[in-house]
Amino acid sequence: MELRGKTAVITGGASGIGLATARQFASSGVNLVLGDIEDEPLQAAVESLRAEGAKVIGVRCDVSQEVEVAGLRDAALMEFGGAHVVFNNAGVAAGAAIGTPKKIWDWVLGVNINGVINGINAFVPLFLEQNEGHVVNTGSLAGLGGVPGMGAYCASKFAVVGISETLFQELLLSGKNVGASVLCPGFVRTRIFESERNMPSELRSYNEDPTARAISEIAQSVVNAGIDASEVAMAVENAVRTNRFWILTHERAAIRTTEQRLAWMKGGEPMGINLDAATRP
Ligand SMILES: NC(=O)c1ccc[n+]([C@@H]2O[C@H](COP(=O)([O-])OP(=O)(O)OC[C@H]3O[C@@H](n4cnc5c(N)ncnc54)[C@H](O)[C@@H]3O)[C@@H](O)[C@H]2O)c1
Repeated sequence: MELRGKTAVITGGASGIGLATARQFASSGVNLVLGDIEDEPLQAAVESLRAEGAKVIGVRCDVSQEVEVAGLRDAALMEFGGAHVVFNNAGVAAGAAIGTPKKIWDWVLGVNINGVINGINAFVPLFLEQNEGHVVNTGSLAGLGGVPGMGAYCASKFAVVGISETLFQELLLSGKNVGASVLCPGFVRTRIFESERNMPSELRSYNEDPTARAISEIAQSVVNAGIDASEVAMAVENAVRTNRFWILTHERAAIRTTEQRLAWMKGGEPMGINLDAATRP
């Protein structure tokens, strides 16, 4: 897709990978609609991008709510007269497979899976009708292999990879000029392991749980050793331009994980966890 003059909608656009991708798209002349649940960072992101010359609006949006994601599409149509790219990127991290309260599972799955579903339902019919568009969904290396301490997160990211592969196949069968990609990064230096800032207030006591705290501290330290979000942003733009499905910013770790699973399925040893490999491209 030629991007100049087109409009991209980015969820989780106030921070990390979403904000870096907004900056990358803006530098290519793309109009932007940023959706995020955090008001102040969202306004700050919009102001800083405008100061750099971007055409951008911000819309407060909880991606787990269908009507709010439809509102992002309507805002893009109203402000820029169209939408061509949706980056279903907002996400939160929490929850081991053992001992995590069901309400935490519901929160993580609600944001990470329903956010993607709501984005597909809001934008794909429009893209098919206009015979132009591209959907990027944010998965993770945690959507390609299980990781201890991250049961709810892994469940949500496996789902995102599955939804994205299915979407890709259905779009191919449609014969329309609409593409799909799934982004599966390893660790990226962002605020993902400060996700409790967006937790519904009635769930926050979970953060005092010693296991949850220990997992979050380990995860935060590897995230801090990860790659810069601008590298991810360049890979996302490139995938949209060239219509590439897999966006593997940590390609060696992604392929190693997948090969290890295959060997395990064939009767070999269970796949090992290599956090260090997941920090490097
Ligand atoms: N950072 C990493 O190491 C890493 C690795 C793999 C995948 N990811 C994924 O990348 C995506 C972006 O995360 P990030 O790393 O930039 O973290 P981040 O915390 O810096 O950004 C996430 C953004 O999503 C927003 N958000 C949270 N809940 C929301 C909701 N219900 N509705 C709308 N917005 C909401 C947050 O306010 C924040 O601005 C997530 O899906 C995450 O799972 C991150």
